[in-house]
Amino acid sequence: MRFISLDEVDSTNAQAKRLAEQGDFGPLWIRADKQSAGRGRRGREWTSETGNLFCSGLYPHDGTPQQAAQLSFVAALAVADTLAYYVPNDLISLKWPNDVLLNGKKTSGILLERGQTHHLGWCVIGIGVNLTHHPEETEFAATHLLDHIPEELLNRPEPIFTGPDAFLSSLAAMFSDYLVLFKEDGFEPIQRLWTERAHNIPGPVTVRLPNETFQGEALGLDSNGALRVKLSNGTIRDIHAGDVFFGTSQDD
Ligand code: BTN
Repeated sequence: MRFISLDEVDSTNAQAKRLAEQGDFGPLWIRADKQSAGRGRRGREWTSETGNLFCSGLYPHDGTPQQAAQLSFVAALAVADTLAYYVPNDLISLKWPNDVLLNGKKTSGILLERGQTHHLGWCVIGIGVNLTHHPEETEFAATHLLDHIPEELLNRPEPIFTGPDAFLSSLAAMFSDYLVLFKEDGFEPIQRLWTERAHNIPGPVTVRLPNETFQGEALGLDSNGALRVKLSNGTIRDIHAGDVFFGTSQDD
């Protein structure tokens, strides 16, 4: 695997896209200590100060747009397994579409982008993980990894946590393993493993779409990765893009 390490960049996703547009489709991972224009889902800013992990995987992609979107679930599983090196498994959960939570609070977000250069497809899997700090006053409550590792594990001669580089080595290896599973067996095992770790599914949920907000019960993922939500009148809606808040208020 190729790794590119940068002191600072506008956005590792933007950098990966520039490489793809020049004809380099990876596979490779780009990591930056700092991003000056880190981007989140739905046009949000992603705070990107030194200490946290900001990385993007660039892979050739000759599958469908749905398969590209499903890679974000592959990535979320890889992040969850990497976090499990550092903290007890029962602290880790997954929130649709692809947030990774520690103790119910957002620790990682994923931004997937795809494109074509000279008719050849590629995919960028951008991952941010709050390792040493997290932004305050976010829409979803946030936390960071170091806050969940006991002091004695940090202060031993070979500390358990050494920073973003080591985290990315494990994450990239995990991602490669899950990618093989996805390519060989399809989305079904990814969907099953994701659902096993899902935060509050089944359970009450508030869904916020650009033009409407409604409540229902989250049932699970459909075969494409959409969130299946049952409304009070029994109708099932598949949510392909949007924000979800667990519970019946938007406070988590
Ligand atoms: C989200 O909104 O939850 C997704 C956040 C994705 C942030 C990562 S940080 C590395 C990569 N570069 C970016 O500009 N965004 C992604």
